[in-house]
Amino acid sequence: MSPFEELQRNLRTRIVGRRIHAYEMVISTSDVVRELADRGAEEGTVVFAEEQTCGRGRLGRTWWSPRGRGIWMSVLLRPPVHRGTVPMTTIIGALATADAVRAVTRLPAMIRWPNDVLVGGRKVAGVLVEARTVSRTSSEGSQDRGHVGGDRELVLGIGIDVNVPQAEMPEDIAGFATSLSEAAGEDIDRLKLARTLLIELDRWYRIKLAQNIEAINQRWRELSATFGRTIVLEENGKRYEGTVIDVDARLGLALRLSSGNIRNFRGEHVTVITHG
Ligand code: BTN
Repeated sequence: MSPFEELQRNLRTRIVGRRIHAYEMVISTSDVVRELADRGAEEGTVVFAEEQTCGRGRLGRTWWSPRGRGIWMSVLLRPPVHRGTVPMTTIIGALATADAVRAVTRLPAMIRWPNDVLVGGRKVAGVLVEARTVSRTSSEGSQDRGHVGGDRELVLGIGIDVNVPQAEMPEDIAGFATSLSEAAGEDIDRLKLARTLLIELDRWYRIKLAQNIEAINQRWRELSATFGRTIVLEENGKRYEGTVIDVDARLGLALRLSSGNIRNFRGEHVTVITHG
């Protein structure tokens, strides 16, 4: 039995965690959420796994997910059209993760736009949002009668390296990542962190549904590891260097380039190479 099964008890969230499925081993929790969605799962359905054999990271990377050491989870979201963009959902995923880590561990978790959560400059967690449009016909409950269209479905996946000894990390990860237990100097209660994460996700998702963009922007600025700093990033194979002058949930990251021009990056195809 997976310890995460216990989370359903006394969880007072409104959307995220209405239903929780916990598995020992899956290929990817995001795949399981999609399968459940195909079978009619309700919004807020969450999947946890003790281990993923082929976890996915951003930009086609794999996500190492060792057994019993982390939080590997995905949640199904069905936001109304225009309130469910991938970049904004990525941001609220990162905010919820950073806030949960701060609350449970007291570690000063920060966000490196668009999807990394850092402690002491090293990555401890990542967020991956995948979207798809599910076709439906007018007879399947569309309010827009006579219209044949699609509903937007998002799968928000979060991976947190909780109790991973640095020495156990594969070499290619150990160079830039760490875990919460390494940073805190003690093991972290995964269940407590998972419960807090669900509560924070529910809170931030409802803030987003209410279109309270300023609340999102403000927290993002507070937690941004790059705000006011010079960074180098890569978008679609092209490199840009500049100073981060703003972060906005709708517009993305605003960079003042060395030419003096200001350019916005929305994040879907961007990697931050360095920040100093
Ligand atoms: C990244 O930083 O590249 C994003 C990593 C997201 C990993 C999580 S773990 C749970 C969920 N299932 C997956 O296959 N990926 C996400």
